Amino acid sequence: MKYDFTSRLERAGFDAVAVDGVGKGNAPAAPREGFDLIPMWVADMNFPCVPSVQRALVARAQHPVFGYFEPREEYFQKIIEWQHRRNGVEGLEPRHIGYENGVLGGLVSTLQSFCNPGDKVLVHSPTYIGFTHSIENAGFRIVNSPLVIRDGVWRMDFDDMEQKLAEQRIHAVVFCSPHNPCGRVWEREEIEQAMELFRRYGCTVVSDEIWSDIILPGHRHVPTQSVSEDARMRTVALYAPSKTFNLAGLVGSYHVIYSDYLRDRVNSASSKSCYNEMNVLSMHALLGAYEPEGYEWVDELRQVIAGNVDFALGYMAEHFEGVTACRPQGTYMLFIDCGEWCRAHGKGIVDVERAAWDVGVAVQDGRMFHGPCHVRMNLALPLSRVQEAFDRLDRYVFNA
Ligand SMILES: Cc1ncc(COP(=O)(O)O)c(C=O)c1O
Repeated sequence: MKYDFTSRLERAGFDAVAVDGVGKGNAPAAPREGFDLIPMWVADMNFPCVPSVQRALVARAQHPVFGYFEPREEYFQKIIEWQHRRNGVEGLEPRHIGYENGVLGGLVSTLQSFCNPGDKVLVHSPTYIGFTHSIENAGFRIVNSPLVIRDGVWRMDFDDMEQKLAEQRIHAVVFCSPHNPCGRVWEREEIEQAMELFRRYGCTVVSDEIWSDIILPGHRHVPTQSVSEDARMRTVALYAPSKTFNLAGLVGSYHVIYSDYLRDRVNSASSKSCYNEMNVLSMHALLGAYEPEGYEWVDELRQVIAGNVDFALGYMAEHFEGVTACRPQGTYMLFIDCGEWCRAHGKGIVDVERAAWDVGVAVQDGRMFHGPCHVRMNLALPLSRVQEAFDRLDRYVFNA
């Protein structure tokens, strides 16, 4: 590998909620004495970012003025090139791209543009906790359509979706592609079928594609807007370099909206707080990320994650009877079902978590994502740390 995915990073004291946040609120408890923390909960990575990001930030920081600014033309061109080369997107123009502080902010602005408080929004479950919080916090009601596991793969239940859209008169959908926490990379036919339903029931679609760069071998991301002309015009797609390059602390994402009407409404809603403004360093971070080195780095990252996924699933199958997970096709998350193990051992998910947290394996409570007896595990760590985590789970949790 050209880039560093093996060094153990010391994040304590460097502004990391994954490390400094343990022991607070809903976070994992801190480990007991004698065990160091292996952060596997927050969705950021324990890898250094691509060097071109740091170089871009340092270069800009050396100029001593940080006044008001406009995004550079290069900002739009780099996004267009990224979307073209990674996702095969054609016809994307600067005017279709808009800045959003966060993907969740873009999602809420879209809902605020097309729904009234109290209106229902269709979301698949398991559900990313950020969706649950931000949609409810903004005054909308979530209607979950459960994904179902068929032949070891999470699938949408189109009958359930249709019934809910029709009976509950739902006109807004949040679609997560790839899906967090299930790791599904939706196939074109699945997206087509979903978008056809959304067309039939007159839904505005928020397509959260923040994970679209982290696609594992054998899969390909299909942008929701690419499946039909109708999908292109009824969808607000949200992207960011933050998940891909570990830049969440710098803040900054963007929307792609082809319909002038949708875009004007979303921009209008996003502007109301006066907070939705780009930070100059965050712009330079994106410019650094979308350099040629960034393309190479992401390809290496995907191989590293694939290796970690193989290790984790192999270890579970061999050593942890009654603990299962569908193989993720994208993202770096594993959504682990401990139901069978818990039933066989007369334990609950809280017992599993406490035992794991106690020995420093800081996984996240899956109930937040609607997994009744699940944990969500972040695998974006050096393989040696993932191996250490599984060794501890073996000795102190599942085969104690
Ligand atoms: C599916 C999904 N959407 C959005 C976010 C958060 O995005 P942002 O920080 O840009 O609001 C995350 C973070 O984990 C995520 O998994």
